[in-house]
Amino acid sequence: MSDFAKLKDAMSDLSGKTALVTGAARGQGAVEAELLATAGASVLICDVLVDEGEALATRLAAEGRDVKFLKLDVTSEAGWLEALALIRDWTGRLDILVNNAGIINRKTITDMSVDEWKKVVEVNATGAFIGVKLAAPLMAETGGGSIVNISSNSAFSGHYDPAYTASKWAIRGLTRTAAMEFAEDGIRVNAICPGLIVTDLNRNSPHLGPMIGMTPMSRAGEADEVAQLVLFLASDASAFITGEDFVIDGGFTAGAGYRRVAKETGIL
Ligand SMILES: NC(=O)c1ccc[n+]([C@@H]2O[C@H](COP(=O)([O-])OP(=O)(O)OC[C@H]3O[C@@H](n4cnc5c(N)ncnc54)[C@H](O)[C@@H]3O)[C@@H](O)[C@H]2O)c1
Repeated sequence: MSDFAKLKDAMSDLSGKTALVTGAARGQGAVEAELLATAGASVLICDVLVDEGEALATRLAAEGRDVKFLKLDVTSEAGWLEALALIRDWTGRLDILVNNAGIINRKTITDMSVDEWKKVVEVNATGAFIGVKLAAPLMAETGGGSIVNISSNSAFSGHYDPAYTASKWAIRGLTRTAAMEFAEDGIRVNAICPGLIVTDLNRNSPHLGPMIGMTPMSRAGEADEVAQLVLFLASDASAFITGEDFVIDGGFTAGAGYRRVAKETGIL
């Protein structure tokens, strides 16, 4: 017989847990950090954007949340070590890591330089790799935890951003590999693959209208909707889930191309 009150708590109560969220000064990461803190976790907000990160931490602390901000460039191993040392001194444990930091450079393969390629892959893929590599031992010390890597629904097809797309496919491979390596340490590793969420990453991009037009649900997603999935995967409600991709894109990956054909030919 299930204890439903306990199940409800498992989904919403992160009391006593500590989380680190990268790229959390603004956009989806900021909403994810706020939701985890609202659920009771101590949250280290990390980003290269100092003013925005400090402003968020100040607001959340004033609302009674247990948060701190640290400037962290996810490509810096030394930066990660500093962040993990801060957490060790602060709460002594790490239960949740959200590798959310990401950048994009919308150029074709023809136009993209090798250095431009490296920069995107370095932040999006190598940054997450360093995070997983250095955070896992700290998580393992207290029995494990949950790592959530933010990929993209572009990691299910070819796309028009070569380095971004390759880096987001890399996140899916890293996620599965890490899930295998750390399962016995009690660490679960999953990926979230959002579709269009309007943020500073894409606010002025010409692809917004056409993307919404092709999305079966005819809208962009909200950062809140991704944050709820982060909370689920971070919490004990997902205790038997590891090594998985979770697409959240209003049905785009499910078959938007075929749906357009069906619409244009009168089948739908
Ligand atoms: N917006 C979308 O439609 C969409 C879709 C799929 C996936 N995503 C992914 O979601 C994540 C969040 O993106 P967003 O939409 O909130 O965009 P955003 O640009 O608002 O947020 C990205 C954050 O990452 C930070 N960042 C960039 N480089 C960093 C570095 N080297 N170290 C630390 N932080 C760094 C930025 O300062 C920013 O705060 C990204 O990984 C992005 O690829 C976004």
